[in-house]
Amino acid sequence: MSANALAPTPLPPLIEDERSVTPAVLAAMANTDNARLQEITTALVRHLHAFILEVRPTEDEYEFGLRWIAALGHHTNETNNEVVLAADVLGLSTLVDLLNNDGGRGETMSALLGPFYRGNAPDCAHGESIARSTTPGPGLWFEGRVLDVDGAPIEGATLDVWQASPVGLYDNQDAAQDDYNLRGKFATDAAGRFAFRSVKPAGYPVPTGGPVGKLLHAQMRRPYRPAHVHFIVSAPGHKTLITQIFSDTDAALATDVVFGAKKAIVGDFREHQEADPDRYPDLEPPFFTCSYDFRLVKGAPTFPVPPIA
Ligand code: BEZ
Ligand code: FE
Repeated sequence: MSANALAPTPLPPLIEDERSVTPAVLAAMANTDNARLQEITTALVRHLHAFILEVRPTEDEYEFGLRWIAALGHHTNETNNEVVLAADVLGLSTLVDLLNNDGGRGETMSALLGPFYRGNAPDCAHGESIARSTTPGPGLWFEGRVLDVDGAPIEGATLDVWQASPVGLYDNQDAAQDDYNLRGKFATDAAGRFAFRSVKPAGYPVPTGGPVGKLLHAQMRRPYRPAHVHFIVSAPGHKTLITQIFSDTDAALATDVVFGAKKAIVGDFREHQEADPDRYPDLEPPFFTCSYDFRLVKGAPTFPVPPIA
């Protein structure tokens, strides 16, 4: 046994006042044997303590806050993740997304996966419709290319597409829609092109029945997301892009309750008053078209775990 092993570990000083709590907690965590965990938990404690020292909550306020956090767990189940929703409406999810995907290498900017992604969407042919049940509303033709950051087309890229209906509901929220309505997977051709037919999405409110809804109400915030189409664009040898292409008014974009709408991913949705069956088959006027090219950066493809079945 070495001399060191026999040396008694010095005891930390006892708490004397509000300023001595933070160093005591940091000292207690000092032996964390994972350096990154140590870095994260140390910063967390420093910032949480600074927050408490700034806000100086009463005991009632503190308990109210803890009950609000516990309610996030109680409202989390197979169809709703209130913890993620809280992170979303506080801007945390978009901040983490931007830190990890800033578009700095010329790739298309990403956006949140959201809680409504489902795996196993049906494979579709070029130009096929993802409106599987009768889904009333103006038609949409969405086309574009998948390119690398130098502008070269990527053949065989996969686009996993999903969206809300013209009344703002995803298939799994709406008994009137068939299973996998407004969801589909498309592959790009040799020129990197893809196209699909759909209906124009509408904006929708995030779930407001839990503690997040109460917070939004107290903050007098509208719970709405602007209309958008979700995409997961993947290709061998390229980093998977998770994004949304937006179609809405400036006011709706600027007040996205989860801060997900970014300038670079607003689509140019054009209204057509005349049919054009050669170019846009099976679309009755008035309908909309949007053309958007996605750019992928080199990297390893990864795939998200669907938050719902
Ligand atoms: C969505 O786009 O589907 C979404 C994202 C974050 C929170 C709620 C919905
Ligand atoms: Fe969405």
